[in-house]
Amino acid sequence: MISAHGLARTFSTKTGPVAAVKGVDFEVAEGEIVGLLGPNGAGKTTTLRMLTTLLTPTSGTATVAGADLITQSREVRRRIGYVAQIGATPAPGTILGEELVTQARLQGMSKVEASARLVEMLPRLDLSGFEKRALSEMSGGQRRRFDIALGLMHNPKLVFLDEPTTGLDPQSRANLWDHIRALRDEHSVTIVLTTHYLEEADVLADRLLVMDGGAIVADDTPDALKARVCPATSSASASTATWRSPRPSPAKRCSRAPASSKAVDWCSPSNAATPPFLHCCAPSMPQGCRSARCRSTGRRSTTCS
Ligand SMILES: Nc1ncnc2c1ncn2[C@@H]1O[C@H](COP(=O)(O)OP(=O)(O)OP(=O)(O)O)[C@@H](O)[C@H]1O
Ligand SMILES: [Mg+2]
Repeated sequence: MISAHGLARTFSTKTGPVAAVKGVDFEVAEGEIVGLLGPNGAGKTTTLRMLTTLLTPTSGTATVAGADLITQSREVRRRIGYVAQIGATPAPGTILGEELVTQARLQGMSKVEASARLVEMLPRLDLSGFEKRALSEMSGGQRRRFDIALGLMHNPKLVFLDEPTTGLDPQSRANLWDHIRALRDEHSVTIVLTTHYLEEADVLADRLLVMDGGAIVADDTPDALKARVCPATSSASASTATWRSPRPSPAKRCSRAPASSKAVDWCSPSNAATPPFLHCCAPSMPQGCRSARCRSTGRRSTTCS
């Protein structure tokens, strides 16, 4: 779905050139959820802005959703959805429902299709009842959910989300996670998202690209990356040893709730056949207790022997 080679962008500023992205190479497969992580200024937004045709790369090439980024930029724009880190500033008096329908119409949907899509999208993004509300009369989190709806109205097969859940309350964040998973699981949408929330990256992403100083410094699954900072050998005793489940297959996602308390020693390697749960170091847990989280639902449970 994405194939980037040597993608770079240097900005000219009054104080000299700023090499924001220094020639990154990566691939994203169809149906993947890829998380882009990294500190402020790492180059995440610049990378997304290049891939969405909003910024011309200084050098490098990319194919995005089957179209060449440079020579077929209109086609790229038609095929993708983009939710920017900072939402657009709407004109005074802009009404939420009207703006969403206008966006869908601009993307080529008929009036009937756009209205039907609006009815579908409002509850998904917890915006039911806001259809006739002026955007200027909505809270920051409500506006953020509107931004996300705006990027998804035309049913794109590839979606870029730049810090989509920043500013959302916990319930809205969890609902958006569900929606993002459903986009992939039910509609095969490919998603690239940036986040500063490690839990969000862990729960949602199949693969993480870690950026620092304009370069990709790691490209791996969340489990593999955690294994680097959370090695089994770092714990002193068997009771605090770390064990990680293998990554669940898509079919097994969300399939099981944890077994009853005391029934399972979560850290036992013999539980390697219990795939829906993800385990990691929990140094603050009392002796004999284990924390487990279902990767797909984000539900966490603690068991103590
Ligand atoms: N329009 C611009 N002009 C000059 N420099 C820029 C411009 N946009 C970004 N930069 C610089 O490029 C670098 C990368 O910025 P970018 O916005 O891509 O970082 P980021 O990883 O998205 O950070 P954050 O987590 O804070 O959103 C930073 O050093 C930033 O100051
Ligand atoms: Mg950014």
